[in-house]
This record gives sequence, structure tokens and C-alpha cells, in this order.
Amino acid sequence: KTILILNGPNLNLLGKRQPEIYGTGTLDDVHSACAEKARELDLEIDFQQSNSEGELVDLIQGANERCAAIIINPAAYSHSSVAILDALNAYDGPVIEVHISNIHKREAFRHHSYVSARADGVIAGCGTQGYVLALDRVAALINT
Ligand code: DQA
Repeated sequence: KTILILNGPNLNLLGKRQPEIYGTGTLDDVHSACAEKARELDLEIDFQQSNSEGELVDLIQGANERCAAIIINPAAYSHSSVAILDALNAYDGPVIEVHISNIHKREAFRHHSYVSARADGVIAGCGTQGYVLALDRVAALINT
């Protein structure tokens, strides 16, 4: 089974971007940690990043027949994108939302996420480990 792991805007800069908030690990490091966890769980991953809202919508639409679950860090689009919410609402499998930082501890505009209205679970503030935790969760959800 394949899990789509989607990363939104500016996450390509992970490691260089505000390391005091997001840490010094890169998105490649996250990809490697997820690949290792997926091997343990006997899952495949499709690890993607895009800065463009439309491309994220296209990737979610493409997941319907192909992917058993979606793990998504919509980044700034969490707080603005009805289009990403609608795309996820058209997807049938489990969705886990991940935020590296604890968005509830930060500016008020980060406290609301449109995606949370669809997510089966939300992980925030666990650093990049949140992605690995999310893989454990989707494995539990799809194997029951
Ligand atoms: C983020 C939190 C968002 O508010 C922010 O816009 C991001 C990353 C996180 O992973 O903590 O780009 O989703």
C-alpha cells in the first residue's frame, strides 16, 4: 500500500528556514526518516512537496485510486485554502494532518486550519518526528 506524504509551501527550505521554529533537519532528512519507517511498516511512500496550491490539489486528486492514506503538512495553506480542504473531502481514505511546530502556541492566524475539518488526526508540535508518528497512525487505520 502506498501512502502519499504531501508538503506545502516553503517546506523545501526546511533546515534553513527559521530553524529556531522548524529545526535544522532538511526535507530530505524527513523523506529518509519516513522511508525507513515505511519499510518497517511494509508500506510504500510517495513523498512530495509543492509551493503551489493547484499542484497540491492535483496531487490529492491523483491519490484517490492510488494511495491508501494521505499525510499532509499544508503549511501556510492550512490557514487559507478551501481548495485543499475540498480536494481532501473528495478523497476517501484516512488523512492525517502534520505541523512541525505547535501552531496553537504561535500567532492567532495559525490557530485555525481548514484542513482539520477533514483530517482524521492532527499532529502538531512534535517536530519532524510528527511525520513518522503519522505513519504509525495511518498503518493502524488502514490495517483494521
Ligand atoms: C507549519 C505551520 C504553518 O503555520 C506554517 O505556515 C508552515 C509550517 C508547520 O509545519 O509547523 O509553513 O505547517
